[in-house]
Amino acid sequence: MGRVSVKPFFTWAAVLGSIFVAFDPFSLSPIAGEKDFKVLTSLQPSLEVLASIPRDEKNILKNAEIVYGGQVFGPESVLFDSRGRGPYSGVADGRVVRWEGPEKGWVEFATVVSNRTEICNPTNPPTANLKYEHVCGRPLGLRFNKHGELFICDAYFGLLKVGPEGGLAEVLTNEAEGEKLAFTNDLDIDDDGTIYFTDSSTKHPRSKFFYSMLESEDTGRFLKYDPKTKDTTVLIKKLQFPNGVTISKDHSFIVIAETRVGRLIRYWLKGPKAGTWEHFVWLPGFPDNVRTNEEGDFWVALHCKRNVIDRLMNGFPGVKQAFLKLPLSPNILYSIFAGKPHGTALKVSSEGKILQVVEDRKGESAKLLSEVEEHNGKLWMGSVVLPHLAVIDKP
Ligand SMILES: *[C@@H]1O[C@H](CO)[C@@H](O)[C@H](O)[C@H]1NC(C)=O
Repeated sequence: MGRVSVKPFFTWAAVLGSIFVAFDPFSLSPIAGEKDFKVLTSLQPSLEVLASIPRDEKNILKNAEIVYGGQVFGPESVLFDSRGRGPYSGVADGRVVRWEGPEKGWVEFATVVSNRTEICNPTNPPTANLKYEHVCGRPLGLRFNKHGELFICDAYFGLLKVGPEGGLAEVLTNEAEGEKLAFTNDLDIDDDGTIYFTDSSTKHPRSKFFYSMLESEDTGRFLKYDPKTKDTTVLIKKLQFPNGVTISKDHSFIVIAETRVGRLIRYWLKGPKAGTWEHFVWLPGFPDNVRTNEEGDFWVALHCKRNVIDRLMNGFPGVKQAFLKLPLSPNILYSIFAGKPHGTALKVSSEGKILQVVEDRKGESAKLLSEVEEHNGKLWMGSVVLPHLAVIDKP
């Protein structure tokens, strides 16, 4: 073979390769079965804004203690009741469970379907339950009202409620404006009992949340449920993965995590801007739940940080769409776009100032965080994918 033949070979290989990737004849791409998969772009913080976000030089979250290892599977929301019992959490096998001390351990508190069978049994890793979530349920956001009733956002069955003694939860709503809730995610309850909650997507169910993230699709909604009229109203449409919800201490506004955009927005309940929403805070990554503490600050849990590949590709949706046609497994795509584990939580003031950032840069103790709940001087951290909680003294 002379030197001259090398160039045409590469040219042909490139042409054939491009055709292969563009048409994906063997359906090797992870989006092969996705009919309407269309990558959109989303807003993102400028590099200056990102650089201005404080960092945790002390790597404080590395000192978090991993608790209940192998006993609680995929605890997303973490909370205590008004009598101090708990923690309670919604787990991957479709139940809400409660810690009842070292002897009894984690005990079933509530279920979201009446006919649970062995296919719903807990698995380790918790992600193995993904296959049956749509029949077993997947409780995400949890909140008690002042009467001790527990409200549950189940990713598949909508907004549910169960009495103070637990048991089978009843569905309050599973549609809004004629459209099914497809991925109910998190809620908070106002003083008058009104419930504010998110439906992260009407396009992809929770089991395919990663597709929703890759696509940056904007079918997410922020909603309100009125317990008196039983009406469900859409307050904000076209959000890109709305997720955590928390009402401010003075009840004048609600903070909503818009996960795909990597920010918090706020929806005004009172004052001249009541009924409108606006950008609130840029975050260094993709948030899950948000919780108001006693001082009126907000704890934000990040699932992961925003990495440079995600940032670049977000600016070129066409390129990203073509890239996603490569025969790469979802696991590989996840590591490309989500990067290495990096535990991050942020405390944000009611004025929208980032007051504190705590990190575990290698994700040795705390990572893939779903919620940070401040309780009795400690931070309790759940993770939708891990089989434990992490706890640390309030830093
Ligand atoms: C419970 O019943 C529903 C409706 O008949 C069915 O679709 C679902 O698969 C059942 N769940 C389990 C866990 O068998």
